[in-house]
Amino acid sequence: MRIAVVGTGYVGLVTGTCFAEVGIDVTCIDIDEQKIENLKKGILPIYEPGLKEMVLRNTQKERLSFSTDLASSIQGCGCEAAFIAVGTPPGEDGSADLKYVLAVAREIGRNMTDYMVVVTKSTVPVGTAQKVRQAIEEELEARGADIDFDVASNPEFLKEGAAIEDFLKPDRIVVGVASERAEKVMNKLYKPFLMNGHPLIFMDIPSAEMTKYAANAMLATKISFMNDIANLCEIMGADVNMVRKGIGSDARIGNKFIYPGIGYGGSCFPKDVKALIRTAAENGYRMRVLQSVEEVNESQKEVLFNKIDTHFKGDLAGRTFALWGLSFKPKTDDMREAPSLVIIQKLLERGAKVRAYDPVAMEEARRVLGETIEYGKDEYEALIDADALLLVTEWPEFRSPNFNVVSKLMKERVVFDGRNIYDAADLREKGFTYYGIGLKQKEQQLKETV
Ligand code: UDX
Repeated sequence: MRIAVVGTGYVGLVTGTCFAEVGIDVTCIDIDEQKIENLKKGILPIYEPGLKEMVLRNTQKERLSFSTDLASSIQGCGCEAAFIAVGTPPGEDGSADLKYVLAVAREIGRNMTDYMVVVTKSTVPVGTAQKVRQAIEEELEARGADIDFDVASNPEFLKEGAAIEDFLKPDRIVVGVASERAEKVMNKLYKPFLMNGHPLIFMDIPSAEMTKYAANAMLATKISFMNDIANLCEIMGADVNMVRKGIGSDARIGNKFIYPGIGYGGSCFPKDVKALIRTAAENGYRMRVLQSVEEVNESQKEVLFNKIDTHFKGDLAGRTFALWGLSFKPKTDDMREAPSLVIIQKLLERGAKVRAYDPVAMEEARRVLGETIEYGKDEYEALIDADALLLVTEWPEFRSPNFNVVSKLMKERVVFDGRNIYDAADLREKGFTYYGIGLKQKEQQLKETV
């Protein structure tokens, strides 16, 4: 079987490589020549655990190739499906910009020679597959070509940092189709990934397009809800860790995605929540829940800074803050919409210094933040003479540091834990002033034990 994947960003690259891994011939296409040259040499544009090895293995076996030439990748070579996995950046009004998706659709229309299924993999609003179909039809008509084709919608549910595992062993695969022929092709393609018994769900195209948004919006809702509860816990003298365990053991609620923190970031949740609110508004409907989800998330990104400001009584100028973790979550170098950016900006505005360390996002941080902050060689160096430690991203290597060393390196023993990864009582025993999210404050604890 042969397919083409257009767009070698995060989604396209993982998709193409995983299809090659199960024996399908894949050409990954991108207009960025430098990117393609690099990929041919095994240099990847993103960090994703296991991906580089898989790319190298499959290029060596000649199942995976990279090209800037879409035409020759789909002309007369038995290509059965072309996946569109290009970016859909949010426009100023929050709606997904489809110009790249539709440009690819047109190019496919200009070049296809045989039946194929054109699959949208990018996260696109309901109705996009129809626009893709129209764009291809117009190009075919302009050429006077009478070639049968189908469109399909196949949203991705990959998590950064676990994308390979998610692709190879998916919870479910959702495919929107409008013909039996397309269903057959998609079934053949995805059969190798159904070994763990999880379903391949076929549905109509608009429902598949909506499923992606509904999934991400639901997950974002869980997080914002828990962040709201966490903030209330603090006010009421409750402990959100206990509350989380208490509610998470109810199977109807579930114990995943109910970890409070300093707000969700990344390329999906913020963008998709905004886009869904926008799509609804355009169609005369107000997504009241999601508007609040977004509002809570924006203010949650400031929660850690507000705690710092209160602790130091507004006197932040000239202080040094050690910041652990810059990426929006562990196991990725992605800093898009990362809470670290909001915290850093607020500290810098107040004349404080930030010395940061991240296991993989240092290069990305230098690109985004330049020399506005200092960078530690490792997590301990970042601590030297710091007024406080800010735990921003819960990388595994930050979970159990040597607190004796930490305490010797720092000027003041204060920890602001944005992810609740440390044991409050343990740290307080070690002489640290500790702040978490949604936890009882020390004074309250004392009051209660008296
Ligand atoms: C998400 C979806 O999980 C995935 O299905 C979709 O395809 C793309 O968007 P991703 O953005 O890679 O994936 O990260 P995810 O692990 O879902 O985390 C998103 C954000 O939520 C992170 O900022 C994370 O810190 C935050 N989060 C997650 C919480 O604050 N609490 C939680 O309990 C879980």
